[in-house]
Amino acid sequence: MNYTEKMLREDALKGKNIVVTGGGSGLGKSMTKYFLELGAHVAITSRNLEKLKSTAKELEAETGGKCIPLQCDVRHYDQVEQMRDDVIKELGKVDVLLNNAAGNFISPTERLSANAFDVIIDIVLKGTKNCTLAFGKNWIDTKQKNTTVLNIVTTYSWTGSGYVVPSAAAKAGVLAMTRSLAVEWAKYGMRFNAIAPGPFPTEGAWDRLMPGNLKDKFDMSKKVPLNRVGEHQELANLAAYLVSDFSAYVNGEVITIDGGEWLKGAGEFNLLEAIPEEMWDQLEAMIRSKKGKS
Ligand code: HXC
Ligand code: NAP
Repeated sequence: MNYTEKMLREDALKGKNIVVTGGGSGLGKSMTKYFLELGAHVAITSRNLEKLKSTAKELEAETGGKCIPLQCDVRHYDQVEQMRDDVIKELGKVDVLLNNAAGNFISPTERLSANAFDVIIDIVLKGTKNCTLAFGKNWIDTKQKNTTVLNIVTTYSWTGSGYVVPSAAAKAGVLAMTRSLAVEWAKYGMRFNAIAPGPFPTEGAWDRLMPGNLKDKFDMSKKVPLNRVGEHQELANLAAYLVSDFSAYVNGEVITIDGGEWLKGAGEFNLLEAIPEEMWDQLEAMIRSKKGKS
């Protein structure tokens, strides 16, 4: 067994209907594939219907599952409500909402127009709010229990990060919403959790965050104590667990999956890793020689 293998038993998501925003590409597509393999029916949504159609066709052929492509820009509440009603019409009910859609690009903040800042906030924070409200209200109205919202955030949701400030502000808001509603809406039978991924190579994120030769200049795996980037299957394993009934007592949690990346940046003395092994004898002697002198 290793981390690229599939974790859950084959029928773990049988009977569950799942909506994955931004499910046509990247991590959303990988999670969707695994959900289908585990027996769920999945609706994938985003702005680009052609991309969604081809992904759904590909995944249905690969898994034998049921995958519905639906166009929906999460920034617009009327489109989100329409998408929700269309999925319910097609599948009968929805049990899980996975808020995965996002937008991001690197930029010094002073170069951003007010609109550029808004675009990111609108996709990430407002989009997550729109979907959560549309599905949450429906679950309350229809008294449907045992429902789950899983939000994809980042590790800079709590540390913040320069050069992606709109994304950091929006993801922090999503994290606050996750923890707030985990308590407030538990009485309606809903659970809310989040995943904070470290670096997982995807075309969408990495071409915008590491354009051109930045990828070679800044090797992301070097920032990770485990010395590698993430594999999509290990993220899919975690997501499948969190939307399954096996995690029924996990609520309001954010699980970091980053090989220790953010802690490496945070620990004050972690930079001492640069000291070669042979120098430690010398340093220890210097420290010990101070004994009793101050
Ligand atoms: C400065 C920029 C810009 C840039 C766009 N803008 N790109 N400003 N630097 N590189 C400005 C535009 O000039 C415009 O402002 C405003 O932003 C909106 O641009 P549009 O192109 O009209 O917006 P839209 O078509 O809606 O595109 C949204 C987008 C785009 C976010 C800009 O990149 C997108 O669709 N991304 C979706 C996929 C994605 O980003 N995935 C990454 C997720 S990764 P003005 O004022 O001129 O009108 C992630 C975390 C990863 O979230 C963490 C890794 C560890
Ligand atoms: P991605 O492939 O670019 O995925 C983003 C998806 O969001 C796309 O499918 C896109 O589809 C959709 N989207 C964008 N704007 C939308 C809108 N207005 N309405 C509906 N859908 C919209 O990037 P990814 O790397 O897989 O990212 C997936 C999630 O993981 C994001 O939440 C991201 O913040 C998070 N994350 C990723 C990493 C990483 O290293 N990859 C690290 C930390 C967190 P359309 O263009 O068709 O709309």
